Amino acid sequence: MAEPVRAGHSGSLRAIDRILAAKGIRLLPDGANDPSPEENPGNQEWHRRARAEYALNRWRSGTPPRFRDAEATLPEVAAWADRALADNASAGALLLTGQTGTGKTHEAYGALRRIASGGPDRFELVAVNSADMYGSLRPSQVMGSSERELRRLSEVQYLLLDDLGTAKTSEWTEEITYRLINYRYNHCLPTVITSNLPARDDDGPDLSDFVGARVASRLAEMVTTLVPMIGDDRRRGGRAA
Ligand SMILES: Nc1ncnc2c1ncn2[C@@H]1O[C@H](COP(=O)(O)OP(=O)(O)O)[C@@H](O)[C@H]1O
Ligand SMILES: [Mg+2]
Repeated sequence: MAEPVRAGHSGSLRAIDRILAAKGIRLLPDGANDPSPEENPGNQEWHRRARAEYALNRWRSGTPPRFRDAEATLPEVAAWADRALADNASAGALLLTGQTGTGKTHEAYGALRRIASGGPDRFELVAVNSADMYGSLRPSQVMGSSERELRRLSEVQYLLLDDLGTAKTSEWTEEITYRLINYRYNHCLPTVITSNLPARDDDGPDLSDFVGARVASRLAEMVTTLVPMIGDDRRRGGRAA
């Protein structure tokens, strides 16, 4: 007996979806009318893996060679990444503080890699060292290029701001930090920050002193996970806790 012909558009849509899916393009929602989710490339897990592959490529291209193997080893860092993956807008900021060599930058890249490997809907990443950032934002001869760069850092989906607080502070650095953080705060954009300065220290310099009161108050609200990292300098052959 002949196969019954499927009525309506759904059969042909599915066929087109399968062809597009093979090219990494989605037409129907994940798993829609999927007759055999196990081996059909239209199924949810197949799409998730394709998204992960794309995001991991972007992660790799934004990550310097030293940190290409970075994994989030701390449970609270992994938990932040999982939250960001589940709901980008509610992730807020992850702040890793501690002395040099304790593994802050490693954990930061590791967190972003974990998000990428989860197969997010979209994944854009810019990672900058804060001293380089202030350097590249100095008013230059090229009209508008620093404004464009500030906009790029402000608007990118995931920003890693490494070593905040190591540059020399001035009214100008405070203003730049304010504009960047204020934008990301207002738009609920996930941000990973590392700093050699403690988040708070009543007896010595802390991150609030560096960024100024306006940024400190936004950070206080934005930071959903604060990880003070302790241990020896890994670069000197020690082991961080
Ligand atoms: N969990 C880890 N596993 C393996 N190597 C690590 C780990 N954490 C840090 N490292 C390595 O230790 C060195 C210092 O880590 P890094 O993240 O640069 O420290 P920080 O940013 O706190 O100064 C780097 O070479 C880094 O690759
Ligand atoms: Mg570092």
